[in-house]
Amino acid sequence: MCGIVGYIGDKDATPIIINGLKRLEYRGYDSAGLAVIENSHIEVRRDAGKLANLVNRVAERPLKGKIGIGHTRWATHGEPSERNAHPHLGQTGKVVVVHNGIVENFMELREELAAEGVLFNSDTDTETIVHLIERYMGAGSSLEQAARKALVHLQGAHGIVVMSTHEPDKIVCARIGNAGGVVIGKGENEMFIASDIPAILEHTRRVVFLESRQMAVVTQNGYEVTTLEGAKVAVQEHTVGWDPVSAEKGEYRHFMQKEIHEQVRALTDTLAGRVDFEEGKIRIPQLNLTTEKAKQINKIIITACGTAAHAGMVGKTYLERIARVPVEVEIASEFRYRDPIVDENTVVLAISQSGETADTLAAMELGRMRGAILWSIVNAIGSQAMRLADGYISMQTGPEIGVASTKAFTAPLVDLYMLAIVLGDMRGYLSDAERRKLVNDLRLVPSLVGECLNREDAVFEVSKALKDVQNSMYLGRGINMPIAYEGALKLKEISYIHAEGYPAGEMKHGPIALVDKEMLVLAIAPKDPWYDKMISQIEQAKARGGKVAVIATDGDTRAAEIADYVFWVPDAPWYLTPIVTVIPLQIFAYHIATLRGLDVDQPRNLAKSVTVE
Ligand code: F6R
Repeated sequence: MCGIVGYIGDKDATPIIINGLKRLEYRGYDSAGLAVIENSHIEVRRDAGKLANLVNRVAERPLKGKIGIGHTRWATHGEPSERNAHPHLGQTGKVVVVHNGIVENFMELREELAAEGVLFNSDTDTETIVHLIERYMGAGSSLEQAARKALVHLQGAHGIVVMSTHEPDKIVCARIGNAGGVVIGKGENEMFIASDIPAILEHTRRVVFLESRQMAVVTQNGYEVTTLEGAKVAVQEHTVGWDPVSAEKGEYRHFMQKEIHEQVRALTDTLAGRVDFEEGKIRIPQLNLTTEKAKQINKIIITACGTAAHAGMVGKTYLERIARVPVEVEIASEFRYRDPIVDENTVVLAISQSGETADTLAAMELGRMRGAILWSIVNAIGSQAMRLADGYISMQTGPEIGVASTKAFTAPLVDLYMLAIVLGDMRGYLSDAERRKLVNDLRLVPSLVGECLNREDAVFEVSKALKDVQNSMYLGRGINMPIAYEGALKLKEISYIHAEGYPAGEMKHGPIALVDKEMLVLAIAPKDPWYDKMISQIEQAKARGGKVAVIATDGDTRAAEIADYVFWVPDAPWYLTPIVTVIPLQIFAYHIATLRGLDVDQPRNLAKSVTVE
């Protein structure tokens, strides 16, 4: 949550920071602000609401300097307002800070600082940080030393960036725990700091990631990374493969729409380099897996949040059916506080687009503590979930900016399918012919997805007819049951329509009581092994007067007869149907939300990368 950008170099910092913040607005849009050092004093501009408000502020009162820091906020402590917007200045006006995370002990710190005579200008937890730094600078510490001393007081997880007019040639940044990344970007005679790579991608691809409890002093020509205790750290520089264009909206109205349409390319990329169609083999060397180890695996616990967890639920079917390994899917926020039964032959497999979700990282840490094998399927290159894991699969979809996850849902489905083939092969559960068939079917994926995308106009027509529904129930079974959860999540998060996903067989155990003519019942009923069961459940809903929409396979006259609305999808091997059925649901949610005039990329109360608990 919250986006951070910093710049130090020869150029005007303001446009660089504002453009960086534009790339990060998906991380928070409650307020935005920036500070630059201009003629030896700190100039700050902030405003509540979206970044556009800050841009207007800056246009009214420009600020110019060659060093600066900026922030977009997703409010935790203190209402979304200008007063609570970052950056926060200290009392002297000579130190300024931006922060991502929660100072869990901020009440005590606030009382302690107030007792020392500090006057607070906001309701935020962040303001305590700048006052602590000033306390130590006032007693003679350098900016770096003062930041080090201040950070010791903070409980919780943090990404922090600070600068001061006392030392106007440096920015100090630090990371503690999993409150989101701190990335340092290396340019020519200029350096960048950001919470996320897209913010700096147009300037550099050479980056360094701070680990937890590391701090960096960044100057125009370089950086030095130390532990919080002050020990020097030799860091590894990475070159990011994403191109800046992938972080642009291009011809599309919204990032979500662009990312829905990118799925053909994204899925082709996730297959690239891993599938050998000639040999009928899948190779994922980053898993660091041997045949001996694969045979020893006794269980896989998939842990993730939200959309990523829904992908994991589909993956359970793949891994159990193809690799015959028992799989549990655990919501990360629950798993992290359980006392799980895990040993050294258990895999804890985290799925995360951002690779920075606090609950997912905590679940991984629990797995690590219990001695499990740690794997991740992750999109953001170099993210914590990638670095923590013993082995990983990179989604390779490029940055996902829209808050509602789309391509980072379908890519892990393909990755989990490939993982199941690798494990099934190594564990000896697949014959040569079975393996070749499963691998060969992957050829169909891009064209099946492309075919669904070509039908956007038909989905739009249904969206127009249903845009005013207030309540909806998504039903699915078997491998498409998680698609009911995912479809409902997509609709509720961007259109604010009440939507629930249910395993269709559960309907008669309670939810059917809700069905009346106002209720949209959206049934996912492609031709898969659960098809007949789905049809009887659709009939039950229809008999109770529900408005019924069905996702049906081309040519399915039975579904067409019962349904009030049909979303047609192309015929696909049953295990690939989730990749096909979810596409119209993404498009449906997108159009319903835009028809209702809502901000699809920045839905209320939500942020990409949930780096707080
Ligand atoms: C929904 C959505 C969220 C995320 C969840 C996990 O559209 O985007 O439910 O899937 O917050 O995020 P990651 O995958 O970054 O761990």
